[in-house]
Amino acid sequence: MEELINIRLSEAGNSLIILDQTRLPLEEVYIELKSREELFEAITKLRVRGAPAIGIAAAYGYYLCALEDAEKEDFFRRMDDAERYLGSSRPTAVNLFWALSRMRQCLRQNALLPREEVVARLRLEAEAIRREDEEANLRMSEAALPLIGDGMGILTHCNAGPLATSRYGTALGPMLLAHERGMEIHVYADETRPLLQGARLTAFELHRAGVDVTLICDNMANQVMKEGRVQAVFIGCDRAAMNGDSANKIGSSGLAVLAKHYGIPFYMFAPLSTVDPDTATGKDIRIEQRAPEEVTELFFTHRMAPEGVKVYNPAFDVVDHELITGIVTEEGVVYPPFGENFRAAFERKRSRRETKDAEV
Ligand code: MRU
Repeated sequence: MEELINIRLSEAGNSLIILDQTRLPLEEVYIELKSREELFEAITKLRVRGAPAIGIAAAYGYYLCALEDAEKEDFFRRMDDAERYLGSSRPTAVNLFWALSRMRQCLRQNALLPREEVVARLRLEAEAIRREDEEANLRMSEAALPLIGDGMGILTHCNAGPLATSRYGTALGPMLLAHERGMEIHVYADETRPLLQGARLTAFELHRAGVDVTLICDNMANQVMKEGRVQAVFIGCDRAAMNGDSANKIGSSGLAVLAKHYGIPFYMFAPLSTVDPDTATGKDIRIEQRAPEEVTELFFTHRMAPEGVKVYNPAFDVVDHELITGIVTEEGVVYPPFGENFRAAFERKRSRRETKDAEV
């Protein structure tokens, strides 16, 4: 099976090629993004989406802005503008801001080098962000594998698969790995209204990989849990606060309440780039509000709601930390108390990196 590469630089290194996720599952169309405006549009319209993928796309976008403006006199001011502009594309997934801030630090550290060299370093930094995400996903998949038993039913929501990341996925990673290693699992994928990431992307990715996947409407989750078909919930994360409150696709917090009711373990998957040391609790997470048309007409052949009716369309909600069994990171599964254990995970990552650097 041919692997889909959702984000990459063009051969010439002067544009970004992305798989347009809005066209899936019917068409696999790659589009070339040449300007910051095109990248901004691709992020806001969810052509590229999923917290880690947004961060990676923005990092490459920052590099492309540097390439374009390298010879300009007010280069550094322009780069600050580029960071602000790209950072205003979506508010909830912290990976966007995390990646842009890493790019800014790289720019500052190399500011005195010849411009051409600055641009080359930024390209390397964007590549490193992509590569590290790939590595984190593999480690998360391995860390979560012991949570999966043969014959188990797992419910997932939205899309936290390879398409939402650099490769392998976060919450879907261990499912794909379990399948690869010959385990039998049954995945229930919520369709995920209103943008149908579960139906269009998760069902597509799992089905394509040969994993046993059953698509359900969001309001059927209670029923499949009540029937005893679900032994664990695995979902992604857009931003984890230090107390463990974690934002993910709208509908996630309701699933956590249901899981608690039925005594089903509820795991969220967050590489440490999704854990925000500057966000204390879920109350500090900004929830993106999206266009009413996504609810009233986007995927219908004709409008399904009266003209002029009020629509509320928050794209995410926050799962209260008390409802989360554990948060899977590349440094292992983090259990409560989350604050203390997140700090320990950051520390493990730092020392692992230092050891690796010392070896090189
Ligand atoms: O609006 P989206 O499609 O970008 O929302 C994506 C999610 O909510 C994912 O679960 C999350 O980003 C984790 S992706 C590994």
